Amino acid sequence: MYWNRAIFLHCLFSLAISSLSFHQINGYDWRDPLGNITIRWDIISPTPDGYVAVVNITNYQKYRKVDAPGWKLSWRWAHKEIIWTTIGARVADQGNCRRFKKNVPTSCAKAPTIFDLTANDDEVKQNQKIDGCCKGGVLLSRVQSYHNSTTAFQIAVGGEGSSNITWRLPTNYTFRTPHGAYSCSRARVVPNTRFISADRRRITQAMKTWKVECSYKPPSQFKDVPNQCCVSLSSALGVNTSCPICSCSCPNQNHSCSTKRHDRLVSKIECTKHMCPVNINWQVINHQRKVRVTISNLNYAKSYQDWIMLAEHPAFDNSTTLLHANHKFLSPKSYSNKMEVVWGRRGYNDALTPFGKKGSSIKMVMVFKRYKAGHHDRIATADWKNPPDAIFFNGDLCVIPNTTQF
Ligand SMILES: *[C@@H]1O[C@H](CO)[C@@H](O)[C@H](O)[C@H]1NC(C)=O
Ligand SMILES: *[C@@H]1O[C@H](CO)[C@@H](O)[C@H](O)[C@H]1NC(C)=O
Ligand SMILES: *[C@@H]1O[C@H](CO)[C@@H](O)[C@H](O)[C@H]1NC(C)=O
Ligand SMILES: *[C@@H]1O[C@H](CO)[C@@H](O)[C@H](O)[C@H]1NC(C)=O
Ligand SMILES: *[C@@H]1O[C@H](CO)[C@@H](O)[C@H](O)[C@H]1NC(C)=O
Ligand SMILES: *[C@@H]1O[C@H](CO)[C@@H](O)[C@H](O)[C@H]1NC(C)=O
Ligand SMILES: *[C@@H]1O[C@H](CO)[C@@H](O)[C@H](O)[C@H]1NC(C)=O
Ligand SMILES: *[C@@H]1O[C@H](CO)[C@@H](O)[C@H](O)[C@H]1NC(C)=O
Ligand SMILES: *[C@@H]1O[C@H](CO)[C@@H](O)[C@H](O)[C@H]1NC(C)=O
Repeated sequence: MYWNRAIFLHCLFSLAISSLSFHQINGYDWRDPLGNITIRWDIISPTPDGYVAVVNITNYQKYRKVDAPGWKLSWRWAHKEIIWTTIGARVADQGNCRRFKKNVPTSCAKAPTIFDLTANDDEVKQNQKIDGCCKGGVLLSRVQSYHNSTTAFQIAVGGEGSSNITWRLPTNYTFRTPHGAYSCSRARVVPNTRFISADRRRITQAMKTWKVECSYKPPSQFKDVPNQCCVSLSSALGVNTSCPICSCSCPNQNHSCSTKRHDRLVSKIECTKHMCPVNINWQVINHQRKVRVTISNLNYAKSYQDWIMLAEHPAFDNSTTLLHANHKFLSPKSYSNKMEVVWGRRGYNDALTPFGKKGSSIKMVMVFKRYKAGHHDRIATADWKNPPDAIFFNGDLCVIPNTTQF
């Protein structure tokens, strides 16, 4: 009884802390100041009643990605535009096309929504694909994969004039992902894109180009969105600090968790005191300037394909190395803290499999630089044994125990 109440109070307390420590206001993220998803429209040819455009969507974020089932893009037409066809993506809603008798457009919706196709969609024929399209709506981070951070589709728009003066910019762009909505800027006309052919011998130019930039909007602190991961700390001296109790939820509330012994899974999450689907253990290996990081999936039903982690620690620098995973050092000018973006090696540990399966826990080792003597270096040497300042897993801030030494 008392235990339950203590957990409940702790729960409220951790929720309050996590809302207070919200790090990002109005979509601006100082850890990734230029991180955004850019949507670019290039009109490539006029048609008798409109134009054909290639729409390019690129994820420029360094530690956030768009997961399956993928993005949904919508906008509001400025005039009475309709969509004749799309290639490499599909329109969700046909809207009211009653005024068309013979050739019926794909969509007459005032505010259409577009979603991506998957590469092996059986119904998608080769002539319905364009270069770089059809990634099931998944966009990895730019650091993970240049090729898989970008996609494109083609759209034939009617109901417009056929000159660059009558082509009007759509308004109210919205970009939604399974992680939440992004906030998008207004479309603005930019210099026409130049396309260079694959053999680099021919350059063509778009007839009109506009851009929209969408930035991640963290869930409102008033909306009760549970945390998704927590950090535990351990050291070779035998000190262990587990994840704070109720970091993500509280155990056994409404039988909200399962144990391996039960077949009938009430919940998909293994029972722990922190109830997080993902646990990250940060273990200092003494005297060796090494930290072993273990990421564990405690969800029975979900795998994390192409996971990405951001760790913030003052002792990181451009000579920090990482064994068993890919990494990139980040040090934004506007922000003094030092960060490493870490992601799995393709085909080796880029997928964190469900709890209980082989590969549900991934280990890697961070090796801090061997410091030369010197004032700054001594500070850094003392630092490396401290806990990280922040860890994000798949873009979500993880709960870290409040410890200054461990
Ligand atoms: C969006 O990202 C691009 C590429 O990183 C950058 O050049 C541009 O300034 C960004 N825009 C905003 C508003 O952050
Ligand atoms: C991009 O994604 C596809 C499909 O998941 C995968 O086969 C390919 O290896 C990825 N490429 C890179 C460079 O990550
Ligand atoms: C989208 O545009 C960017 C920037 O020009 C380019 O690097 C990328 O290859 C384009 N994506 C596709 C799928 O064409
Ligand atoms: C429209 O196209 C014409 C001819 O291609 C060009 O001279 C003019 O600058 C364009 N206007 C705008 C606003 O892009
Ligand atoms: C754009 O969206 C905003 C908020 O969703 C709404 O208030 C506004 O009326 C919309 N504008 C148009 C032209 O639909
Ligand atoms: C610390 O935690 C690790 C991993 O959970 C465990 O293997 C180790 O035995 C623990 N050490 C102590 C002293 O509890
Ligand atoms: C537990 O279940 C009750 C009734 O279904 C619900 O009102 C309450 O919000 C649930 N509590 C949690 C923590 O899910
Ligand atoms: C690493 O950082 C140091 C100090 O900031 C700098 O002098 C050096 O050029 C950097 N090295 C690389 C490979 O970026
Ligand atoms: C963490 O603990 C330190 C020392 O006990 C305290 O000063 C600090 O306010 C605590 N921070 C949080 C977020 O509770």
